[in-house]
Amino acid sequence: MFLSAPDVGPLEESYLIRALRSGWVAPVGPEIDGFEQEIAERVGTRGAVGLSSGTAGLHLALLALGAGPGTVVVVPTLTFAATANAVVYTGAEPVFVDCEPATGNIDPDLLAAVLDDLTGAGRRVAAVVPVDLFGGCADYSRILPVCASAGVPVLEDAAEALGATRHGRAAGSFGRAGVFSFNGNKIITTSGGGMLVSDDLDLLDRCRYLSTQARQPVAHYEHTDIGYNYRLSNLLAAVGRAQLRRLDGMLGRRRELREHYGKLFAGRPGVRLLGDGDPGANCWLTVVTVDPARAGWHADDLARHLAAERIESRPVWKPLHLQPVFAGREGVLTGAAERLYTDGLTLPSGSGMTDQQVSRVLDATARFLEARA
Ligand SMILES: Cc1ncc(COP(=O)(O)O)c(C=O)c1O
Repeated sequence: MFLSAPDVGPLEESYLIRALRSGWVAPVGPEIDGFEQEIAERVGTRGAVGLSSGTAGLHLALLALGAGPGTVVVVPTLTFAATANAVVYTGAEPVFVDCEPATGNIDPDLLAAVLDDLTGAGRRVAAVVPVDLFGGCADYSRILPVCASAGVPVLEDAAEALGATRHGRAAGSFGRAGVFSFNGNKIITTSGGGMLVSDDLDLLDRCRYLSTQARQPVAHYEHTDIGYNYRLSNLLAAVGRAQLRRLDGMLGRRRELREHYGKLFAGRPGVRLLGDGDPGANCWLTVVTVDPARAGWHADDLARHLAAERIESRPVWKPLHLQPVFAGREGVLTGAAERLYTDGLTLPSGSGMTDQQVSRVLDATARFLEARA
């Protein structure tokens, strides 16, 4: 049993075949145009650009925001490496900031202090990239004013958060631009793919241009910028459109699963679900956190028990400031991300799990808890 297997079926198959038969077997075509429009409508932004990955979206948006050598970009330490890798691709320096213990998302107070320090020291901050961790939106009601007063644009890494909302606004729509991933394990998938969304049509045009090898609009292949081959395939966009039609059903299924986990763990001392009580979370992955001193067991004990039953679980992201590849980079840390790394466990959360598979995971977890009651 996997954490979050792709949930695809006959609808995706029919859309893919339709695209294939149309002859648009290329990184251009009506499925891409349609997918972009539909995502922008869903998120409530003026436009969108379909890309080969979420990482490509982060890279291009950072370039468009002016990230490059001599600038810094503030990112949370508790995220997947892609958030910071994209910063390094541009030549900018990532600065890592710790998280709120309750949600795992970037700590807005710490962010305010870091921006004060960086701007006070005369550093050029090209962007702040909050991540909507595991599909729960960061606290934009505090993050946006802090960034606005520092004059720094926000690029929302909503790779995991399609379908999530906060105070009625959709994930992806909070900053100058937002990025989604359609990687195989995400809430909807195109096998691999991503989307950049924004109200800023100039920024989107710039990114679309850079994503298609920065070709000037002339017949003889004229180039005045270094471009990238980052466009989404028309075939994969067709799969994305089918997935998008099923998004609400898939969100419902993941929410149901989280409620089941919530009931199982309720009343257990020292045990809680990360971001519990966020009504807008898309419940992409459910994470249980365990304080071993109060619970009498460790998250790792549950992981081993599940593994013995061939059920996948995983630690939360290893914080980036602990990653060998980012050794020596700047960070403002409280220990919160490190605690979530040691105390957190990501549980099977896929919308494609059958009722029988859901029961198998819940029963296995219940047996573990009963043995420790
Ligand atoms: C937080 C976060 N940012 C960025 C990415 C990168 O997305 P992609 O795999 O589509 O490049 C991912 C997922 O893979 C992610 O979880």
